[in-house]
Amino acid sequence: MSERKHGVSRRQFLNYTLTGVGGFMAAGMIMPMVRFALDPVLRPVAGQDMVQVVKVDEITAEPKRFNFKIKQVDAWYKSDEPRSAWVYKDEKGDIVALSPVCKHLGCTVSWNGDPENKDQFFCPCHYGRYEKNGKNIAGTPPLAPLDIFEQQVKDGYLYLGKAKKKGA
Ligand code: FES
Repeated sequence: MSERKHGVSRRQFLNYTLTGVGGFMAAGMIMPMVRFALDPVLRPVAGQDMVQVVKVDEITAEPKRFNFKIKQVDAWYKSDEPRSAWVYKDEKGDIVALSPVCKHLGCTVSWNGDPENKDQFFCPCHYGRYEKNGKNIAGTPPLAPLDIFEQQVKDGYLYLGKAKKKGA
């Protein structure tokens, strides 16, 4: 009986088998390396944790700026990123935590920074102004209100999370 009758010669059979086994073994060695290299990219992005910022007792009706750090993970790089917030209690006693980042071009706003416009947030870069609740004042460069931080009060402390667009 010739090898031709079977459709696949002994030589071809050996070639297919060795190629298959070799490919399987190579994949077994390469896949863990690829997985290791890409692991931080493939991992789902964890939500930013709330960070303890200030004792609730220290928050007054006058906005005060508080600095804090958040843990940030960008693929392989971990860092403590500085943040700050303007924090105060409104007329109802609710805590408000506003981002100091101007919505025009990203300068830092200050409270009562403009002597001619009291009780407002002021951006010195292009004279942007905001009301105490963060609303941008018409006729000044910013076209949106200051972002507001996610917040939580626990054990007498204020915790802040991400700054989000007002109403988002
Ligand atoms: S960056 Fe604030 S007004 Fe332009």
